[in-house]
Amino acid sequence: MKTPQFSDVLIIGGGAAGLSLALRVADKARVTILAKAALTESASLYAQGGVAAVLNGQEDTFDSHIQDTLNAGAGLCRRDTVEFVVRQGPEAIHWLIDRGVPFSQEKQANGAMEYHLTREGGHSHRRVIHAEDATGRAVETTLESLVRRHPNITLHESHIAIDLITSRKLGRTGPDRCLGVYALNRKSGHITTYSAHFVALATGGACKAYLYTSNPDTSTGDGIAMAWRAGCRVANMEFIQFHPTCLYHPRAKSFLISEAVRGEGGRLTLPNGKPFMQDHDPRGELASRDIVARAIDYEMKRGGLDYIHLDISHKPADFIKSHFPTIYERCKEYGYDITREPIPVVPAAHYTGGGVMTDLSARTDLDRLYAVGECAYTGLHGANRLASNSLLECLVFAKTAAEDILKQLPVVGQLPGDLPPWDESRVTDPDEQVVVSHNWDELRRGMWSYVGIVRTTKRLQRAQHRVTMLKEEVREFYSNFKVTNDLIELRNLLLVSELIIRSALARKESRGLHYTRDYPKTLPGTPQDTVLTPEPHEASGRRANA
Ligand code: FAD
Ligand code: SIN
Repeated sequence: MKTPQFSDVLIIGGGAAGLSLALRVADKARVTILAKAALTESASLYAQGGVAAVLNGQEDTFDSHIQDTLNAGAGLCRRDTVEFVVRQGPEAIHWLIDRGVPFSQEKQANGAMEYHLTREGGHSHRRVIHAEDATGRAVETTLESLVRRHPNITLHESHIAIDLITSRKLGRTGPDRCLGVYALNRKSGHITTYSAHFVALATGGACKAYLYTSNPDTSTGDGIAMAWRAGCRVANMEFIQFHPTCLYHPRAKSFLISEAVRGEGGRLTLPNGKPFMQDHDPRGELASRDIVARAIDYEMKRGGLDYIHLDISHKPADFIKSHFPTIYERCKEYGYDITREPIPVVPAAHYTGGGVMTDLSARTDLDRLYAVGECAYTGLHGANRLASNSLLECLVFAKTAAEDILKQLPVVGQLPGDLPPWDESRVTDPDEQVVVSHNWDELRRGMWSYVGIVRTTKRLQRAQHRVTMLKEEVREFYSNFKVTNDLIELRNLLLVSELIIRSALARKESRGLHYTRDYPKTLPGTPQDTVLTPEPHEASGRRANA
């Protein structure tokens, strides 16, 4: 057991949300960041297309970005959130530019350099600022260098948060609040108690619940699961976004081919060269992502195909290499020259549309607990996220959370107090790890087959049945053995999968990213969010056996 650690603000996650929140508060607060892998290993690091914001005031408008976001969201966006985020977009981008993010620029006819704005599906204007095709890497490495140098920020990499500590879980009287977190050092195996005045979840999404995903290994829904176990509501978990175009190759581990490739003219065709997107939507390749992913799924199932083709080879080679250098190089490694030939692509789970419910200050249901970025449900995306609105959401909500926290500092009194250490008195070393690896595999295959792009009630019920069984097995394992990284992640993924399935079963219509053959129509009238509230028995303590 390690000595407890205290900070003003404890941030769990080192993606765009976590790092920008840290930098926004660190001049006035002592900050600790926990990251379960290397600091920047996150979905943010792999973001390609860019960040959407209204930056060309001559052609684009806030109203237009707002309308595109609402259209994609299929009636479920919260209008106040959409307006709030879109209107703060330019400030968020200038904050990044001021920190040194090298966004791509292009020479204008008059010789001046201006930021290049690309286009993606569902956007009526060019408004996606980017750093070539590796925007996330540019953002992450820039913020990382600032975070590592900041005297008020302490970093604990390879530390995975296990569960939140709350006053209710400790049996304290008075209103419930978040006090800190237990975290496992993945290298030493020690578990440390971290206490803080404020805790922020910035843990990203949960797409590792699916066999095929564009997400890195870190996306296991930990923040959503921890918040649920601490009594917070989650919303709209049925809306999992499948990105239409990941490279189809046995070694590529779902390498993403950015939507910007279609934005710059890339065409989708069947392997025999026949284009098909116009048969599905008049916007063709630039229809919103749910429509394109479903169209591909339909064509693949209809033709018994393993993949379809994405072709940008009609564009000049120089143009392709300068706009998409990362994609060009990675495809070449796998034997494809995108300047000369089409590449095989398939859809893959990409983005978790639901999450921990927050307000416009990023506050959750639990006092002193914030949720920022992909783990949060703010109402921005509704039933379907518009491309490149996610990094924007991370940046804007990091700012608003920071402002809300700074307003409350310095905290007078109300210290978290002494928190008990992690209880390992009744557990032993695991006798075998195969339970974890086998169940992990079964979960991901089941979610892909039964809770994918096209759903039915029967498929969802099948998945629910299996997840319930796996959860029970893992619960028993968790109660009796010392925790490991894989066990913590599997436990969280099972819980989040259960929430996805429950939400999908609750929605008796098709809307946005949720499509079910049993209810293929979108219901008329005002649509409702799917809000789940944990029952008291679903919120568990330090250890199930404590
Ligand atoms: P992440 O960036 O995923 O960061 C989560 C962090 O939390 C990581 O550091 C992780 O290690 C840490 N963590 C998780 N659990 C724990 C735990 N239990 N304990 C400690 N640490 C933990 N969006 C756009 O807007 N534009 C794009 O161009 C774009 N391209 C994308 C391309 C790819 C390949 C992918 C996968 C996503 C893309 N997205 C894009 C989506 C966007 O990148 C993500 O939604 C966004 O980066 C999420 O940021 P985040 O900070 O919330 O989470
Ligand atoms: C992409 O580059 O296609 C990803 C953009 C996004 O997910 O917003």
